[in-house]
Amino acid sequence: MWIRWQRWHGKLSFTADALLPKYGQMVRIAPNMVLVNDPDAVAAAFVKQNLNTAPKAIRALRVGHERDWTVTYPEMDMAKPRRHPVMVACTTKNLKYWHRHFEDNQEVFLNTLSSSSGRKSHDIVHALRLLTLANSQVVLAGAGLDIGKYHAEFPEIVGQYNFLVVWRLVLPDWIFKWLRWGPSKYARYRVRSSDYLYDVKASLIDEEAKPNDEEPPTVYKLLTQAPSKGPPIEWTHEEISAEMAGQVLAATETTSSTLSFIFYEFAKHPEVQEKLYQELQTIDGNGQLDSLVYLDAAIKEGLRFRPPVALTGSRVVGDGGIVLMGHYIPPGMIVTTQALSFTRQRPDLFPDSDTYYPDRWLLRDEGFEERRRLLVPFGVGTRRCPGGNMAIYQMRLIIAGIVRSFKIELAPETTPDKMAPFEANGFRSKYDRCDLMFVPREKHETK
Ligand code: HEM
Repeated sequence: MWIRWQRWHGKLSFTADALLPKYGQMVRIAPNMVLVNDPDAVAAAFVKQNLNTAPKAIRALRVGHERDWTVTYPEMDMAKPRRHPVMVACTTKNLKYWHRHFEDNQEVFLNTLSSSSGRKSHDIVHALRLLTLANSQVVLAGAGLDIGKYHAEFPEIVGQYNFLVVWRLVLPDWIFKWLRWGPSKYARYRVRSSDYLYDVKASLIDEEAKPNDEEPPTVYKLLTQAPSKGPPIEWTHEEISAEMAGQVLAATETTSSTLSFIFYEFAKHPEVQEKLYQELQTIDGNGQLDSLVYLDAAIKEGLRFRPPVALTGSRVVGDGGIVLMGHYIPPGMIVTTQALSFTRQRPDLFPDSDTYYPDRWLLRDEGFEERRRLLVPFGVGTRRCPGGNMAIYQMRLIIAGIVRSFKIELAPETTPDKMAPFEANGFRSKYDRCDLMFVPREKHETK
């Protein structure tokens, strides 16, 4: 009951984090689950090839019409052939090929933000969901699709889906059958949001089935062609649709929520924006963004401060059990860890950890290497996120585009209470929006 209560109120990670100093770096947070916060112990456990991820958390991520398709699979042998295509499609070489498409998508996004000339606020969560969808679509399935005609509802649907994941983790299964047809329009929409996500992808699959050999391989192409090793996956139309819907979710929500919190922090800290703006003046265009240390620090700090995947990784202990930090953990137990605690529990290396402070990543003292080691928003070990490279690439581009064009200010309606982190399939703002003012730089200068 305790864990359900925490999940319902969107605060499991922070509450569990507060237990660590009291009870030690390993705490049992549910009858079958231990939270481990020792980096060496986590690395030793998560490096194993044969560990499955926790099935209940994964089942809560289902997409499609009351079926078992999911964003990722608990079983390593199911996940492995799905991970490889993401890693190949997201190499820097391939992302550079798609770069001009990312820039085109970004132009649409920046034009939307400039449309108000800084006089009205924009919900950046909504805008970023659209942009990351457009960018992910390129890597997942190529640049030839006009996804604009499909995606208008995407931000709202995905927002509802995030909260549906919480419901699924907390409420019994039978209730969803009732809610699906029940009197509340709101609940019906939420429960059906995972069907809509599936439908968006299913309607695109037929077009995606025409890969262009001149272009780098997309995730879709790699998934559906025969692999160099191992048997090919035999997809039905429904399965590949659900798989692609899952990939879209993995790729967009994480990146857009990290960026939303970063822009909120920028609005509160004009000095960070200014420092970044000055650094961006030292390069032409977007070709050398990877060389900018302050941009890198701003992203690292965003991932540290609000890691978008709350329980960053959970594994089921296999036959024979495992010994961690001197404790025997029997088979069937779930070992979980969270990036949030890795840094919060080290005030010596991350003082004032509740403050967004990119400059901490610029310090070249004796704690430098350890600070880097403790930053694990993409997870640890064999099931680590295969799309991290794409995420960082996109974040650099989007932050640079915004900071070059605008000064970001808080909208009056955006209060600390509204922006309190709430865990709904990762950290979101409590009301799933973040309204900010984007004042064009030239206008700001003449104010
Ligand atoms: C800021 C952005 C992102 C963060 C913080 C993030 C984080 C994570 C984490 C923590 C996991 C689970 C790791 C584990 O269980 O140990 C994961 C899994 C995954 N991520 Fe990401 N991710 C991001 C962006 C992306 C992108 C852009 C893509 C695709 C292009 C992607 C694709 C995936 C996939 C397919 C999985 C499942 C892997 C498996 O089943 O083994 N992610 N991600």
